Parts: sequence; C-alpha cells; structure tokens
Amino acid sequence: MSLISAKEILDDANKNLYAVGAFNVNNMEFLQAVFLAAESEKSPIIIAASEGAIKYAGPDMLFSMTKALSDTYPNIPVALHLDHGSNLNAVMVAIKAGFTSVMIDASHFPFEENLKITKQVVSICHPLGISVEAELGRLKGVEDNVSVAERDAVLVNPKEANDFVASSNIDFLAPAIGTSHGAFKFKGEAKLDFERLRKVKELTGIPLVLHGASSVPEAASKKFEEFGGDLKGAKGVPFDVLKDAIKFGINKVNTDTDLRISFLAKVRESIANDKSQIDPRKIFGPAKDYVIEIIKERMRVLGSSNRI
Ligand code: G3H
Ligand code: 13P
Ligand code: ZN
Repeated sequence: MSLISAKEILDDANKNLYAVGAFNVNNMEFLQAVFLAAESEKSPIIIAASEGAIKYAGPDMLFSMTKALSDTYPNIPVALHLDHGSNLNAVMVAIKAGFTSVMIDASHFPFEENLKITKQVVSICHPLGISVEAELGRLKGVEDNVSVAERDAVLVNPKEANDFVASSNIDFLAPAIGTSHGAFKFKGEAKLDFERLRKVKELTGIPLVLHGASSVPEAASKKFEEFGGDLKGAKGVPFDVLKDAIKFGINKVNTDTDLRISFLAKVRESIANDKSQIDPRKIFGPAKDYVIEIIKERMRVLGSSNRI
C-alpha cells in the first residue's frame, strides 16, 4: 500500500473514538518492530521521525525503509510523519523525501508568529495531500499547587486553540495539557488537565494529539535498572490516564521513550547474560522482539487494534 496522510488515519480515529500510536523511529529495528506489531494487532500506524532521527538516518533512508515495509505489509494503513519540525526548511526536507504528514512546532513563538508559520506550512502541504499538525502551549508538567496564571502560561488556551484551528486549517492539533517528553514526567501523581482538553475538543472538533504520552512500563524499567541502568524517579502516563485522555478527544498518542527504554533494557540484559556474544543480531533481535510486545500492548490500550 502506498503511504497515506495521517489525516486519513486520524479522521477515522476521531469518528470512532479511538487513538493511533505515533511511534518514533531512528533505525531499521524500531521500524520493523512497529510494522510487525501493527500486522499482529491489525492496527493502523503513524511512523514519526524527528529532525534528530532524520539527521541520524537520513530522510531518504527513513522514507525508503518505511515504503519497503509498507509494500511488504500492504494491508496496514501507514503515514510517515515529521515530528516537531522546527522550521520551514525541516518541513521541505521531509516533503522532498516523501513524508505524507508533518508537524510544524512553532509553539515556542508568540501566538501570532506560530499562526503565521503554521499557515505557511499548510499552504505548501495541503495542495500536495500532506497533513499538518501544530502545537499550542508548552510541553511541561504542571504541579497541582501552582497559580492559575502559571497554569495558563504553560497549558493550551481553548479559545486560542479554536481561533488557531479556524484560521490555520490544520488537520490535527497538539494541545499542551500537562505532559512532557522523556522518562520523568511527574513528581507526584500523573495528572492531566482534562477540562482544557474537553473544551479544545468541543470547540475545534478535530483530531487531537498527546505528546509526551509514554507510560514508562514497569517491567521494562525494572529490567533496565536490573542490568545496570538508572531510571530513578521515572514516571510516565499510566494506561488508565491514557484511556481517559482518549475519551476526552485524543486521537494520536506519541510514543518514543517507552520504545527506547524497552529496547535498551533488553540490550542490557542480553549483553550481561552473554558476555562473549559478538553478533549484533543476537543482541538487537531480542530487543526488537521486546519492543514489539510493548507496542502491541499500547495498541490495545489506545483502541487501535482490530481496526483494519
Ligand atoms: O519529541 C521528541 C521525540 O522523543 C524525539 O526525540 O529529538 O531525540 O529524536 P529526538
Ligand atoms: P515520550 O517521550 O513520552 O515518548 O513522547 C514522545 C513524543 O511526544 C514525540 O513527539
Ligand atoms: Zn513530542
């Protein structure tokens, strides 16, 4: 199957109240893991590549590997998406390589500047059938005891979100509601601002994206630490919180950290248990299999299993 835009995938998720995983990849093993999990779970997928991933693997390599796997598994709906594109140049590199979806992340600029850059990206992408994601607010955890003004400074403003969507014509929006990237998301209880999320959904109606959505799975984290790693204080978004977020309108769930932790936990274990092993395939193979199980579990939590 040829790659499709993420809009096609997410419009169905929005209509039928489930979410699709956007899984970050940097190399062949992670890409294979996402496709093999999707094949097993019968789930659509979004392959996410950051600017760092593009720098590491090369845009053409990422596209070619994704296309090759999509041809191998023609029944899986798949989009290749630029994650956190920081400027027009990054977007153009992705478009030129054949990406079918982009995120322009100008959320660190004031509202008007973010809107201006995003509109420019939409005007280039939409005629090409490429979907566009943008972000509002900052990806930062917010403690319970901070002032309303502090919360407002970090999290999405629903009225602004409505104006932004109407004016930019983006296909899906990432509203900041209290998550952050990486393995250390919350000091205390994992709490997201569902009231803001509910309002953004009610006003805009478009598919919404949860960045920083990894759950930091306990078994993988334990294994990581058991074999010499340090993840003290790591905390992710628990499955029940993810499920609530989906009920309130999230349709795309970005996941990178969980794949990183699980892959490297298994690499650590294999290396520790087989000290004379010099064949990388004997180390990366089991790590890939472990990542597949983590992805399959997430697909079931998101409700994207058995959608194809
Ligand atoms: O949103 C960030 C993703 O986890 C990608 O991370 O920029 O290190 O590739 P990266
Ligand atoms: P995690 O760090 O929680 O996996 O978030 C990834 C992400 O948001 C990629 O855009
Ligand atoms: Zn992100």
